[in-house]
Amino acid sequence: QSEEKVHYHITAQEGETEYFPGIKSPSKGYNGNVLGPVMRLRKGQEVTITTENQLEQPATYHWHGLMLPAEADGGPMRVVEPHSQTDVHFDVKNEAATCWFHPHTYLLSPEQLYQGLAGLIYIEDENSDQLKKHLPHEHGVDDIPLIVQDRYFVEDGVVDYEQVFSIDGTRGDHLLLNGALMTKFNTHKRFLRLRLLNASNRTNFKFAFNDQSQFFQIASDGGFLNYPLGMKSLILGAAERAEIVIDLKDTEEEPLYLMVNDFKALEISKTGSLEENVDFSYIYSLREDLLNTIYPEEVADLPFHHILFQGTDERVAVNGRKFQQGRADETYKKDQYYVWRIINQKDDIENMPHPFHAHDTQFRILARNGKLPYKNEMGYKDTLVVNKGEAVDILVKFPDTGLFMHHCHNLEHQEHGMMTHFEVE
Ligand code: C2O
Ligand code: CU
Ligand code: CU
Repeated sequence: QSEEKVHYHITAQEGETEYFPGIKSPSKGYNGNVLGPVMRLRKGQEVTITTENQLEQPATYHWHGLMLPAEADGGPMRVVEPHSQTDVHFDVKNEAATCWFHPHTYLLSPEQLYQGLAGLIYIEDENSDQLKKHLPHEHGVDDIPLIVQDRYFVEDGVVDYEQVFSIDGTRGDHLLLNGALMTKFNTHKRFLRLRLLNASNRTNFKFAFNDQSQFFQIASDGGFLNYPLGMKSLILGAAERAEIVIDLKDTEEEPLYLMVNDFKALEISKTGSLEENVDFSYIYSLREDLLNTIYPEEVADLPFHHILFQGTDERVAVNGRKFQQGRADETYKKDQYYVWRIINQKDDIENMPHPFHAHDTQFRILARNGKLPYKNEMGYKDTLVVNKGEAVDILVKFPDTGLFMHHCHNLEHQEHGMMTHFEVE
């Protein structure tokens, strides 16, 4: 395959997965039993993806985080019927980032994701090429994808969405990492890069190491942060991503655990003496074009729009309305900047955090409740958690025309109406 063009074939199919030894659970996967392959793209590349549906139900193929024409976006209008296939085409506009793909099938996407349909998309560009001497980048060796999900098991080992469904987002009391319950990793590399994706239906995950060691966040949803940001814990809402780097030099000889909420999710053991795989210590910046802090006065004249997330359970709504397939409730101009204020309405109905997401954009967060956003939210984002009673201002722009959507990425909220189509002209 040439550098300029790439062709992928992604087939959604029924499968079987042994989460517990000897117990086969029905599952769904892309090109396999559960989850999917990592799709590798480069900025500027012309992409064709053959999306094939071998399921007994309709499917759509959404490339979460990518800016692409509405025809290729894979929203609920772009159904691929059972036992058929269709090609989508787009050019990669995104910079280097970790994105993902999943179904967006109207009413079916919560079940399809819960049963296993999710895959990663890695985008590279000239900047990420140049960062290779500083950042671990050997897939599966020192650059590790971690798709994190929570699941309930019924009948001693079976994932069955229908039995555990919850209208406020289906959760679980077990943690899956890359589709597996127990994950151990042996390494002799000093620096590890973990690409974290929260692919749960609704759950917020808090990541930390059991010895409270510091790690560095290097990227958010849509690309690299300005500098590696030292931190001891990190929270990702549904659909959010973060890339982190951990230095194993000073860790003890006993295994290190990546904790996700209360779970010992990943056991990392050092084998032998550590190899200096990259010179992460000498990295000053991760971007050539440093991202500035945007102050309120700089965006004061831009068109302003409110997005009010209301209610829980079947009462969920956006600005007093429920989603209707094909009906555009908002109109925007291509390549024009807008300020959106996303509000999690505090009312007498029980409030929940809502993970807000918009298509065809990588936005910047301007403010949370009138204050500067958290430092690790100052890069490009496509999803953010709006907590109870919060208002978050973002700066958005859409590079494509057509019918897109923004919504709560609590997938059950999404399908019960906390989703809005907008038209970009
Ligand atoms: Cu991750 Cu509208 O989707
Ligand atoms: Cu999306
Ligand atoms: Cu929600």
